[in-house]
Amino acid sequence: MVSILVLNGPNLGRLGSREPDVYGSGTLDDLRIALEGEAPAGRAIDLRQTNDEAELIGWLYEAVDTASPVILNPAAFTHYSYALRDAAALVTQAGLILVEVHISNPHAREQFRHTSVISAVATGVIAGFGFDSYLLALDAINRKLG
Ligand code: DQA
Repeated sequence: MVSILVLNGPNLGRLGSREPDVYGSGTLDDLRIALEGEAPAGRAIDLRQTNDEAELIGWLYEAVDTASPVILNPAAFTHYSYALRDAAALVTQAGLILVEVHISNPHAREQFRHTSVISAVATGVIAGFGFDSYLLALDAINRKLG
């Protein structure tokens, strides 16, 4: 069974109560249920969240070691973490799909959110569609894997 790692960075564990006007009222559990509902047979959803940069990097190594496609919402790390960028590059350099996702559209927000240090090493980027950003990423992975 191929697992699709759905990795979420800092403060995304507070979805539901965190800035609902920006991120909506759904929780990570709601997101997990929605993704599991769309996962085709033979693919499991492994959704995780951490506030810890080192843990997130370790999960990207795990993706490489287990040849798992990744949906990554790096949250605020998006904008400045070169360490996370280098780990994300390991995933795509291994020939694996890594889709960067954002619930909001960072380009429509504060200036500091307009830069992503991750995008250049991602397979693709989907942003601005709420939880549907993740569902669209899952669809993209399913299409690529066939
Ligand atoms: C986010 C956008 C980031 O700018 C922010 O720091 C987040 C969430 C999004 O999903 O819209 O934590 O990645």
